[in-house]
Amino acid sequence: MDPSSLLQLAARARDAAYAPYSRFQVGAALLAENGEVFTGCNVENASYGLTLCAERTAVCSAVAAGVRSYSAIAISAPGGAAPCGACRQVINEFNPALKVYLGDETGRLVAETTLDILLPNAFGPENLG
Ligand code: THU
Repeated sequence: MDPSSLLQLAARARDAAYAPYSRFQVGAALLAENGEVFTGCNVENASYGLTLCAERTAVCSAVAAGVRSYSAIAISAPGGAAPCGACRQVINEFNPALKVYLGDETGRLVAETTLDILLPNAFGPENLG
C-alpha cells in the first residue's frame, strides 16, 4: 500500500479519537507485512494518565489479532506531529526499522522517516539476552 493511501486510513481513524480533554485527535494506520492494516486512535480518560495513544492502540489491535510483523505506520495528527517516546518504544519492540509516515489532519504527507531515526540506540528485546 502506498504512503498516501495509508495516511488516508490514518486520517479516517482519527475521526474516532476520544480526546475530550486535550482536543488533540490522532489517528494511526499500521501496515502489516501480510498486507492487513490495523488502525487506532487516541483514547483519553478522566484520569488523564491512563490516556492511550493512537499508535499504541493500532499496535495492540494488530497483536490481539495475532499479527506481529509490520512494514509501515501512518499517523494523522495536527501539524503532522511525530509519535511520542512511549509509542516509539512500543513500536521498536516489533520493528526497529519501521517506515513512519507523518500526516496532517487531512492525511496529507508532511514527513517520512523511520523508527531507528526517531529512536536511536533503542533498548529492545535483544538487550535481555
Ligand atoms: N497522542 C497520541 O495519540 N500519539 C502520540 O504519539 C502523541 C500524543 C495523544 C495523546 C493525547 O490524547 C493527545 O494526543 C495529547 O497529548
